[in-house]
Formats: sequence, structure tokens, C-alpha cells
Amino acid sequence: MLTVIDHPLIKHKLTVMRKKDTGTKDFRQNLDEIGGLMVYEITRDLPLNPVEIETPICPYTGYELAKKVVIVPILRAGLGMVNGIQDLIPTAKIAHVGMYRDEETLEPHTYFEKYPKNLEEAITIVVDPMLATGGSSVAAIDMVKKQGATNIKLVCLVGAPEGVKTVEEAHPDVDIYLASLDDHLNEHGYIVPGLGDAGDRIFGTK
Ligand code: PRP
Ligand code: URA
Repeated sequence: MLTVIDHPLIKHKLTVMRKKDTGTKDFRQNLDEIGGLMVYEITRDLPLNPVEIETPICPYTGYELAKKVVIVPILRAGLGMVNGIQDLIPTAKIAHVGMYRDEETLEPHTYFEKYPKNLEEAITIVVDPMLATGGSSVAAIDMVKKQGATNIKLVCLVGAPEGVKTVEEAHPDVDIYLASLDDHLNEHGYIVPGLGDAGDRIFGTK
């Protein structure tokens, strides 16, 4: 299922990121902040366990998260979304999936993967600012499923309808969250209107 998180703060910050004159520092900061704002919606259905505690006044039955959370950034650009999410879920473990998209074929190529243990018991949140053709996200979800992950969410900033369709067809069990569903892909596989090359803008490599 696709959820587009419609919030004025997200719209404002995403507009700052889309501007071609926004520099690396502001781009990264706004991405961080949007990641934090998206957490509320992404985690709305996390299961809880009751827990008996003592307040200073009396015994009380409170709640704690029932499952471990694992954040899986697709390198490089996905790294830009980790801090904002981890600030609110500080116990989250981080996996890494390194992938780049071939500029000609637009096919994803994997160059790194590293996971924490017991993914099968975790809520796995795959993050990448850009969902373009969907090839990278589908490949990353394939990889975490191979590690045993079953409860998977995909969180991107900007998505193209083509990429959403591709992920939904390949992984109908995965919930997709976007800050914006954009219009289409151009002939180079870039999202329109989009925000350009997210990795280069986060890391200042162009
Ligand atoms: C970008 C982006 C996604 C991918 C999206 O990564 O961060 O991972 O492209 O495109 P797709 O949906 O068509 O697969 P890129 O390959 O540019 O690598 P980078 O993050 O290292 O810049
Ligand atoms: N990757 C990006 O960084 N931007 C796009 O628009 C598409 C893929």
C-alpha cells in the first residue's frame, strides 16, 4: 500500500530541497528533518507489549515497543535519512546496502551489504530518498527478504508513479511511504520535477 505523507512542514522542507540553488548543508539538514517527521506515520502501527512499571505515585501498566527496528539505508543517498529516523528510535539497528544505478541501463548494481542478526523478528525500514524506476528499491527488498526479513516498509522522499508500480508488483506485501508522489521519469530516468541527484546533493560530489 502507498501512503503519501501530506504535512505542511514536509511540503515546506521538501520545496527547499527541490530548489536548484539549495546547497549541501541545507539539503542535508532538511532531509534529516523530513526523515524525523515521517517517522510518526511510518511507526503508527508498530506493535507494543504491556510492561509493569512503578511511577513515583503508583504501579502502572505502560507500553514498550514489541519488536526490534532495523533501518536499511540504500547507499549512498539513503544514509541521509538515517539520522532523522534514528533520533526518534535510538535503539534501531542499522543495516547497509550499497547500490548504484548504471547511468545507461538504469539497472542497480550491488557493491556492499551488512546486516544485524535476526532480521526475521524485526520491523525492517528500507530508506532511500529517491524511488525512480524502482529497480534499486526492489533489489534492496529482495536482499533483506533473503536475510529473513518479513515485516518490511519502504520509506522514500520522492517517488515516480513508475517506481511505485514496480515495487508494488514485485513486493505487494511491502508498505511504501513517500513525502511526495511526483509526475513522471524523464528520458534519463530522473524524477520530474524531483530534486536532481540526491546522492550528489547530500555529499557535495557534483
Ligand atoms: C539513486 C537513488 C536510488 C536510485 C533510484 O542512487 O539514491 O538509490 O538512484 O533509482 P531507481 O529507482 O531507478 O533504482 P544512485 O544510483 O544515484 O547512487 P548514489 O545514492 O550513490 O548517488
Ligand atoms: N536518482 C536520483 O538521485 N534522482 C532521481 O531523480 C532519480 C534517481
